[in-house]
Parts: sequence; structure tokens; C-alpha cells
Amino acid sequence: MASKVAGKICWKRVCGTRSFEIPRRKIGTSVAASGAASKTQLESLGRDKPFRTTMSIEVDPYLRHLFDADPALNVYNSSIVNLSVGAPGPDLLKQCNTLLATATRHRLEEEEKEGKYYLFQYGITSGLWECREELAKFLTRRYGDPVAREDLILTCGATHGLQLILTSVMAPDGVIFVDEVTYMIALDAFKQFPLKRVVSVPMKNDVVDLDELEKLVQAERHKSYTLNENKIFWAMYYTVPTFHNPTGMTLTPDMCKRVVKMSRDNAFAVVCDDVYNLLHYNNEYPPHRLFNYDDSQDPDYTGGNIISNGSFSKILSPALRVGWIECGPRVVNILKNSGILKSGGAVNHYVSGLVASLLHLKLEDRYLDSLIETYKGRMKALCDVLDEHLPNYCSYNHPEGGYFVWIKLPEDIDALPFMEWCKQVYKVMAIPGARFSNHGESKNCIRISIAFHSAETIAKAATIMCNAITEYMRVKNVKPNLNM
Ligand SMILES: Cc1ncc(COP(=O)(O)O)c(C=O)c1O
Repeated sequence: MASKVAGKICWKRVCGTRSFEIPRRKIGTSVAASGAASKTQLESLGRDKPFRTTMSIEVDPYLRHLFDADPALNVYNSSIVNLSVGAPGPDLLKQCNTLLATATRHRLEEEEKEGKYYLFQYGITSGLWECREELAKFLTRRYGDPVAREDLILTCGATHGLQLILTSVMAPDGVIFVDEVTYMIALDAFKQFPLKRVVSVPMKNDVVDLDELEKLVQAERHKSYTLNENKIFWAMYYTVPTFHNPTGMTLTPDMCKRVVKMSRDNAFAVVCDDVYNLLHYNNEYPPHRLFNYDDSQDPDYTGGNIISNGSFSKILSPALRVGWIECGPRVVNILKNSGILKSGGAVNHYVSGLVASLLHLKLEDRYLDSLIETYKGRMKALCDVLDEHLPNYCSYNHPEGGYFVWIKLPEDIDALPFMEWCKQVYKVMAIPGARFSNHGESKNCIRISIAFHSAETIAKAATIMCNAITEYMRVKNVKPNLNM
């Protein structure tokens, strides 16, 4: 009986928490349950020793936002200055009330005028036409590079875009190349595809080392992968090429060209997490996005290997769950014809209507201008403090945009216990580097975010953290290596 194979299941309720023991059942439980599998069969499936996992599941506590349940991320906890999270604070989000009220009124009046109420109907699979049209114009004026409506597919944000790409155009048993440190929740998302292999690529001075990427691609490309007319890429290189998370750095134009060439020559996709591109603090326009280098006029153009995965989360509001994939015609066609998009008829048809109005009325442009001014001030406040107070045995690169600064402590210092200590003693915290690495490397690094707190709070907290580093080294009696 299944229950015998499954073993005892016990439920405990403790202070609103349910904990229970379950055996970890891999695929094919029914074979074991029927008693039909021999010991050898079970061994070959790796199921000869059923083992137990103890889980605790909280019973729906009253939480208000994503960071509420996790003290390491809770930016709203006023007893600590938490510099961990890449999300805007209430001082910025409050403007969304007026913006959305105006956009909603405009969109509903437009629907009333037309009298067909398509906004409440199933949409088209690539996303509301008017929204893509306004988005293409908006991106063209903000990137300073042309963006075509027909290259855009609307998504529920970059996370959803990534999921769509993983499930639609990539071999189910393919390879995902990632930078040695990268957006940590993308790493979590990749773990949900156990047949795909994640391969880390070393970095040099906070950007990918392309010689190493080339070597790894050559080592992997001739293995066997499941490809067909939809699964057209045996691998993808997932990266944040502009204002990287967590390092803050950007690929140079030469590096971009080399990545494009490598992807064409070796038939893999490059999935660019382009969520920070429009938050640039130095020049009139941001650095060209990598997609811009995959020029369809090139003689070796292969229908598009670069995919730009964009989002309104960092430039408007994370709650709207609106983003876009910008890609060449062959990927557009596969996505447009995917059952998932067809069944739902666009993923967020109504909200896309509101975004179309925000863009059309130029409300988003004005809001983005104000965000850039605010974040630029916060980035300067942080870097001014680091320039003055960061001990000379630590280092960092000054980002030109985005949310993050990546600090390197001496190689032999583990930032995890340091951060715990800093939080306890000084009430300041950020995320230790190992969280961003697939193998828990970069232990000596810390990522600081400028997204949530005011410039004054960030400057104060960063000064405290710099002094805490010196104090920690003294308390732990560590002699810094000044030759690093
Ligand atoms: C690099 C990167 N990609 C994606 C996301 C999430 O984007 P979205 O809210 O559009 O899903 C984040 C948020 O922190 C991020 O830093």
C-alpha cells in the first residue's frame, strides 16, 4: 500500500506552524507503491533508501509584502537599517496612487468611447497592441536605440519572462551558463528545472570572463540535447549585462559584440536580464543593451540569439507585474504560438491597458525621470561614504546605474558571520556574497542596495558598516592583506 511505502506521516501544530514528516518520493512512486519494482530497479532509480524530509509549513500568517516573512530581507523593520532588498520604498511608491488613478480613468474612457470593451476580453497572445506600440516608442526614446513593436511580447515581469524562455525555446536537458555571481533568485528558479545543468562562468573585475565562457561553451556544445522546432537552443547564457546584479558593472561594447558572435557561432541564446538598464545616472542615454548588437543586417544574423528581458518593476511598481521580452522573429513566433499564452490570451491584458495609458500620457517618463534623480543621489551618497570610510584593504567599483554596490572584503573574511555580527551590534545589514553564487563562492563580498532607503539613511548606515569592518577585523584579530 502506498501509505506503507510512504511511511508514517505525522502532523504537528505548533504556534501556527504545521510540521510534518514525509518521505521524499521521487518520480515513479506508483511503481514502488504497487510493490512491482525489484530492489535492483529501485537502486537504479536511486530510490533504494527511502529517506525522510521534515518540513515546517507556516499556516498562512498575516503578511503584507514579500519581505515580511524573512528577517534577513525585511526592509520595513525600523529597528534595523536593512540594505538588502532591490525594491522601492513607500516614499517612491506613493506616487503610484495618482499615476494609476489617472491612467485608469483614461483607459476606461477610451473603452467607453469605442464601446466594444475589448479590454475585458481575452487579449492577443503577444500582449495588447496599443501597449506594445506605446512601449516600443517609450523604449526607443529612453534607450536612444530603435525598438520595434513586433519584437515585443508582454509578460508578467522579468521573472515570468525568464520562466517562459526556460519552458518554451530551451532544450529541456540544456545548459544554463551563469556568471559566477548573479541574481540569486534566478538561481533558485533554475533549480526547478533539474534536467537543465547550471554552469558557472568565472568573472574578472566584476564582469564575465569571456575567454572562460568560450572554453565552457566548447566543452558543452557537442553533448547530446533534446531539440526540435520549438526547443531551438541547446543552452542559454543568463546574465545581467547592464548594471549587473549584484556587481553593478556593465559589459563594454566590445564584450557585447563578442558575446553576440559567440552565441551565433554556437547556436545558444543569451538571456539578458535588462531590468536596470533605464536607471542610469551619468549620461543622457544608458549603455546600449546587448540586444542592440544582434543586428538583423549582419551577414551572420541567425534570426536572433539575444533576448532582452525587461520589466516595469524597477521603473514603476513591482506589484503591477508587467514586463516584456524583446527578441528576434523566430523566438517571437514560438512564444506567440505557445499554448500557455494562447490559453490565457495575453498574460495581463487589463493591466497592460493601464500601462499603455501611462506611457501614452508620458506619466511614466516623468516618474522615471524622478526615480533616476532620486537613485542617482542615493548612489552618490553611498559611494561618497565608501570613498571616505571603506578601509583600504577592501574595494568596490562605482556603478553608473542600477541598484547595487558590490564590496569586497579581504579574501579570508567570510561576510556571513561578519554581517550577522554587524546586524547584532550595529543594527545594519546587507546580503553576504555567497548567496549570489551557484557554488557559494564570493564569500568575502557584500551586496548593498540603494533602492529602499533615503540617501541620508544609506549614508549613515554605510558609515556604520565601514567602521564595523575595521572593528570586526580588530575583534577577530585578523591582519588585513594590503597587497590585494
Ligand atoms: C536581475 C533581476 N531580474 C529580475 C528581477 C525581478 O524582476 P520582476 O519583478 O520583473 O520579475 C530582479 C529583482 O530584484 C532582478 O534584480
